[in-house]
Amino acid sequence: MTLLHAVTAAFVERAGRRPDGVWRAPGRVNLIGEHTDYNDGFVLPVAIDRSVVVAAARRTDDGFRCWSTRSAAGGPAPPVHRPSDIGPGRSTGWAAYAEGMAWVLRDQGLAVPGVDLLVHADLPAGAGLSSSAALEAAVGLALTDLAGAGAGAGAGAGAGGAAAVAGAGLAPAARLDRVGLALAGQRAENEVVGMPCGIMDQMAVLLGRAGHALFLDTRSQHTELVPFDPAALGLTLLVLDTRVKHTLAGSPYAERRRACERAAEVLGVPALRDVTLADLEAAAADARLDEVTFRRARHVVTENDRVLEVVTALRTGDLDPVGPAMAGSHRSLRDDYEVSCAELDVAVESAVAAGAVAARMTGGGFGGSALALVPVAAAGAVASAVADAFARNGFAPPSVFAVAVSDGATRLACPAPPSGASAAEPVPRPDAISGSTERRNHGRTRAAAGRHLPLHRAAQPVAVERR
Ligand code: GLA
Repeated sequence: MTLLHAVTAAFVERAGRRPDGVWRAPGRVNLIGEHTDYNDGFVLPVAIDRSVVVAAARRTDDGFRCWSTRSAAGGPAPPVHRPSDIGPGRSTGWAAYAEGMAWVLRDQGLAVPGVDLLVHADLPAGAGLSSSAALEAAVGLALTDLAGAGAGAGAGAGAGGAAAVAGAGLAPAARLDRVGLALAGQRAENEVVGMPCGIMDQMAVLLGRAGHALFLDTRSQHTELVPFDPAALGLTLLVLDTRVKHTLAGSPYAERRRACERAAEVLGVPALRDVTLADLEAAAADARLDEVTFRRARHVVTENDRVLEVVTALRTGDLDPVGPAMAGSHRSLRDDYEVSCAELDVAVESAVAAGAVAARMTGGGFGGSALALVPVAAAGAVASAVADAFARNGFAPPSVFAVAVSDGATRLACPAPPSGASAAEPVPRPDAISGSTERRNHGRTRAAAGRHLPLHRAAQPVAVERR
C-alpha cells in the first residue's frame, strides 16, 4: 500500500469521513555542515525518499485534533483542542509539532481553520533524519492549503469556525512561500516544542529537490540547488541508523548553542560565521576563550570551510575532497563538538573500513544516524559490516537502508474546495520555488545544473535494509 492509500484509509477509519487532502514532507540527510545553522553558517542537506504524510479535513468548528498511526487504532479518540488550548506551555508530546504549526500560523495572522488531521510516516522518528521538520512542513502545507480556501472566501466569512479564528485583515494563506513556511516551522519548534533548533531541517524538507543537494547560507537564507545524484556517480547513499534515540529538546544541544553564542560575544561578532581560526587561536592564547568553548567554536569555523569545499567538489565534479571532508567533519563533531556517541563512531569507522568512500554522523547527534556514500556494488557488504561491528561491540542491531535524493514537501491529493469558496491558490511546489532560488543566486543554479552531473532522478538503489 502506498503512503497515500495508507494515510487515507487510516484517516477514514479514525475520523469516519474522507480527508480533504493529503500532504507529504520528506526527511533529510545532511551531507555536511553540522551545528553551523545556528551560527549563521553553511549547510548542505538533501531531502530523502522517506516521508511523513498528513491527511486532513476541515472541521465545522475551530477545534484541532490529531491522530498518529503510531498509536493503535481503536483506542480513545484524541481530544479536540480549542485554539486557546494550544501553543507554548500548553501543547505537549509529538502533537506539539502539529499544534505548534497551527499556533504559529494563526499568530502570524493566517485564517487557519479547525481541522482533523492524521499523521503517518515511513520516516523513523528520533533517527536524526528530521522527522520533526517533516511533520511541521506537512502540517504547515495542509493548514495553509486549507486556510487558503477559507481566506479565499474572505476574512470573517471562511468556512465554519475559520471565521471566528480569522478576525480582520488576514493575509491570504497562500502568500506564505516555502521559506516563510520553513521559518514558521522553526518558530513552532523553538517556541512551542522548546527545541532551539536552527533553520536547516525545515529548509531542507521544503526546498530540497531530487538529484540535488541544497546549499544554504543560513545568514542570508540564499539557497542553491547543487546537482548531486549518487546513482549517477555509481554510489548509494546509505543511512546507518544507530537506533540510539536522539532527543534534542532538553539535550546538550541547547548547551552547545549557548557555548557558540558565548564565543561570538567574547569575540565581539554577531555569530561564529564571522570569525577565523586565527581569531579563535588568539582568543584562546590570551585566555578570553576557555579550552572547551574554543573547541566548540573551532568545530563551527572548520565545518563551514568543509561545506564550501564539498560544494566546490560537487560543482566541479572532482569528488576527491568529499571523503576527507566528511571524515574531518566526523572527527570534529566527535572530538571538538562532542556530539557523537560510540554507536555513531563504530558505524562510521566500520562503513569506511568496508568500502564507503565517505561517511559521517548526520544531524544533531547524541544518537541518531550516520550517512555513508558507498559504491553501489559494496552497499550490501557495508551494511553487513556495520551490523557485524555493532554485534561485536554489544550494541543493539542498527537499521541500514538506502535512500534516494528526493523532492521537498508537496501535496499528494487535492483538497476539495468547500462549496461557495474559491479554491486555494496552491503553495508552490519546490520546482516552482527553484525560480526564486535561482533568482536569489543570480542564475548560478541553472548554469551549474547544465555544466555538471546528469540530472535524471535517482533510482532507488539496492535494498539493504536489515531489520
Ligand atoms: C538538528 C537541528 C538543526 C541543526 C542540526 C545540527 O537537526 O534541528 O537545526 O542544528 O541539528 O546540524
